[in-house]
Amino acid sequence: MAEQRLLFVCLGNICRSPAAEGVFLHLLEQEGLSDQFVVDSAGTGGWHAGNPADRRMRAAAERRGIHLPSRARQITLADLTDFDRILTMDDENFRNVRSLARELGERPGLASIEPMTSHCRQFSDREVPDPYYGGEQGFEHVLDLLEDACAGLLECLRREAR
Ligand code: 4NP
Repeated sequence: MAEQRLLFVCLGNICRSPAAEGVFLHLLEQEGLSDQFVVDSAGTGGWHAGNPADRRMRAAAERRGIHLPSRARQITLADLTDFDRILTMDDENFRNVRSLARELGERPGLASIEPMTSHCRQFSDREVPDPYYGGEQGFEHVLDLLEDACAGLLECLRREAR
């Protein structure tokens, strides 16, 4: 597989997208594919820049043996050309990243922008819901969705590389 550059995007970059990054990195490690990918995450908002992932999200991930190494940062225009694929967590993130891409106009080499849930195979949810203001169950559901979507995403990338 040629090197793939993936960016996971949510609103704050402290719950869903750092979890997506960690789940995907964990999967790559299990599959022995870590050196073939560049994986990062970002938020459409910048309020939490520099912060580690939310402690509830980190704790829920650790219970599944998944480490979340991310520090929050805001997405930039350069990300649209530095990455091959941008995976968004909800409809609002999708719209915001699309409108950022429109600022660059039509040009070759722009990242594809896809809803993360489009890669789910077991769940039919349209969005990865924001768990920030909810209870513990919300963080578990985010991880369930992301484990499903990350497995589907890797399968999709492998299929395309054939
Ligand atoms: P995330 O969750 O987008 O999954 O990182 C959020 C975290 C913080 C806020 C919103 C969403 N916030 O408004 O501070």
